Amino acid sequence: MTTLTPVLSAFWDAERSWSMDTYEAHDGYRALRKALDTPQADLIQLVKDSGLRGRGGAGFPTGMKWGFLPKPDGGPRYLVVNADESEPGTCKDMPLMMAAPQFLVEGVAITSYAIGCHHAFIYLRGEVVHVYRRVLRAVEEAYAKGYLGKNILGSGFDLEVTVHAGAGAYICGEETALLDSLEGRRGQPRLKPPFPAVAGLYARPTVVNNVESIASVPPIVLNGADWFTSMGTERSAGFGFFSLSGHVTRPGQYEAPLGVTLRELLDMAGGVREGHELKFWTPGGSSTPIFTAEHLDVPLDFESVGKAGSMLGTRALQIFDETTCVVRAVDRWVDFYAHESCGKCTPCREGNYWMKQVLHRLEHGQGDEADLDKLLDICDNILGRSFCALGDGATSPVTSSIQHFRDEYLAHLTHGGCPFDPAKSALSALSASEVPAR
Ligand SMILES: Cc1cc2nc3c(=O)[nH]c(=O)nc-3n(C[C@H](O)[C@H](O)[C@H](O)COP(=O)(O)O)c2cc1C
Ligand code: SF4
Repeated sequence: MTTLTPVLSAFWDAERSWSMDTYEAHDGYRALRKALDTPQADLIQLVKDSGLRGRGGAGFPTGMKWGFLPKPDGGPRYLVVNADESEPGTCKDMPLMMAAPQFLVEGVAITSYAIGCHHAFIYLRGEVVHVYRRVLRAVEEAYAKGYLGKNILGSGFDLEVTVHAGAGAYICGEETALLDSLEGRRGQPRLKPPFPAVAGLYARPTVVNNVESIASVPPIVLNGADWFTSMGTERSAGFGFFSLSGHVTRPGQYEAPLGVTLRELLDMAGGVREGHELKFWTPGGSSTPIFTAEHLDVPLDFESVGKAGSMLGTRALQIFDETTCVVRAVDRWVDFYAHESCGKCTPCREGNYWMKQVLHRLEHGQGDEADLDKLLDICDNILGRSFCALGDGATSPVTSSIQHFRDEYLAHLTHGGCPFDPAKSALSALSASEVPAR
């Protein structure tokens, strides 16, 4: 059985795990000292050699992204950390920033040095005020210790870090919408090219990386590329957070090598809640096509999940047992996408609104079988025709649920409504009358 590989979560159970004292007692800032003695190009090569791929969902190689920045021209260049984390089911960056925020701050300092940035930004979803306060405090502590600011550790390297709280919109996690929002505009995706590496924040070369990607940099610098590649698979190296939620005995963050399977993770998490069995699950958040019990042994790495018909995404494993109505779950997710659609492009703005109407009808036993084809047709007109990946992602739960559970959609029609009792799938002891009506 695969064991866990606690690195970023190694001391979450220590007293005041979030404090600078605790971080320094666990090798904190040794990697920064080492990095400041290393040529910048060597650091970028190290991250390339480690095979680290972006942990924000798309899995783009991190070192390669840094290498795309044009040669320095004397003007500013920026690092922007994407801490928006709004995808339904995704819940890894917030716990990491609460429990051990210095991994991120040290990662920001090392990455900024490597790419020649003197002003970095951490863009955080505004609703999570407690996380915002914790990251602000962590940055303050790092300034006080001389790990940020002027002439860091006597190296001559200067770095300012700004922590920015967004107003709370899923689309502001899309990297170019994030940049617009950070510049003070309404967050809507930009046309690419130019990519952020060429013209990002304030039209200057910019690297945008996820919290977990940047937090993984200090351990890689400290332990080397071979250490990192000794975990995971050949093309999906290293470890990552697998966030188990829903109908599972012990939900939470499981830091494990990429390539671990849901069966192995469930073994460690005490299985599906007692007396129930797995019905469906998301491998990487609600934007990734759902899997079923057939997929328990699919290795959770970028390639294997893709080959099996879904995406690794953010490793947000939402577990649903047999009490869950898949139509109701998909209906809720599409409500979310319709609400969060930024409205810039027609396929996503109108398509999600239509899908929401059709799914509401089906969940209540109205409409007819032709509505399933209508849903698939709408998905066909959103997928690949939307301006950004929000639109594409919204189609994933719809098409995959019809593929795996067409009969359950039809059962709503023959039954004249939802055949499930929503109170049975609730995790707390709700009576049916307390379950919110749809
Ligand atoms: C609608 C939407 C929301 C996104 N939300 C996030 C997010 O909250 N955090 C994140 O890191 N990436 C998010 N992304 C992906 C980013 O656009 C980008 O790929 C990522 O920040 C790059 O970092 P990485 O290479 O380290 O993964 C989102 C993308 C889309 C289309
Ligand atoms: S796909 Fe949706 S979120 Fe993305 S630009 Fe179009 S309307 Fe906005």
